[in-house]
Amino acid sequence: MGASGQIGSELVLKLRSIYGNSNVIASDIKMPKSELSEDGIFEKHDCLDGDKTMDIVRRHKIKLIYNLPALLSFNAEKTPQDAFNINLIGLRNTLEVARIEKSAMFFPSTIGVFGASTPKVNTPQETITRPKTMYGVTKFAGELLCDYYHNRFNLDIRGVRFPGIISNKTKPGGGTTDYAIDIFYEAIKNKHFKSYIKAGTFLDMVYMPDAIKACIDIMEANPDKLTYRNSFNITSMSLDVETIAKEIKKHIADFNLSYDIDPVRQSIAESWPDNIDDNAAREQWAWSPDYDLESMTKDMLSKIELKLCH
Ligand code: SER
Repeated sequence: MGASGQIGSELVLKLRSIYGNSNVIASDIKMPKSELSEDGIFEKHDCLDGDKTMDIVRRHKIKLIYNLPALLSFNAEKTPQDAFNINLIGLRNTLEVARIEKSAMFFPSTIGVFGASTPKVNTPQETITRPKTMYGVTKFAGELLCDYYHNRFNLDIRGVRFPGIISNKTKPGGGTTDYAIDIFYEAIKNKHFKSYIKAGTFLDMVYMPDAIKACIDIMEANPDKLTYRNSFNITSMSLDVETIAKEIKKHIADFNLSYDIDPVRQSIAESWPDNIDDNAAREQWAWSPDYDLESMTKDMLSKIELKLCH
């Protein structure tokens, strides 16, 4: 079960291709694109309605819940009260259902749990976590809550700290790292991108197929090998906007970049690490991304071009 959040629809489609359409129940607060609701079971549902979560989990005998609803960092600053409810109260409701029904659960955390006092380079798995954003506060509290449910109730709950996720299917959803998706669309449409993040601001990124792979692989990992639960650092590449632009220029020679800095997103980005250490994920459940900047850029540009032609 799972939908919404940045990875929801792409994860549902992948899970259905692996486990069969009738074995994956998608849910979201709004009706999704037709393929999600037409090719399998879909339940319209608000994560704040714990009784309905219980009803869906019982009716479909759901044994693994992907709890994905969240407001990302930039949107969360616009409505911090909503972010608190969705990111934390929604999580607590679902944890209760998972505890009572003995379902396993996946919880997506983020590099947003880190803050300005966190070591910026090669950020360790366990380190200073004093985020200043509502997104970071709710996600770090979520990590602790998930670990509590594991230790106290033996709930099988696992998670990863996602970096910026770059996708050619899902449009950006109110995060600080949205520019890393927009730049590819703008490069094809206008050969120009105006960045709201400064050159030289490095952040971890992952390509969507690898993000989806992480969601599936961690839930299939041997639990005896996991010394951590919530949440594992994962990354594929550490990039700034100029590095992405340079790679795009290899395909679109007259592409160019300008800047109009957004102080809110810039300050969030500056409080996050340049690059995180994901060795624990690599050692404990064989995390190993398939895409680097070169292969991702090629794939992004060709898929977006195809989409815009149709
Ligand atoms: N992509 C997220 C954001 O920018 C980071 O986890 O908020």
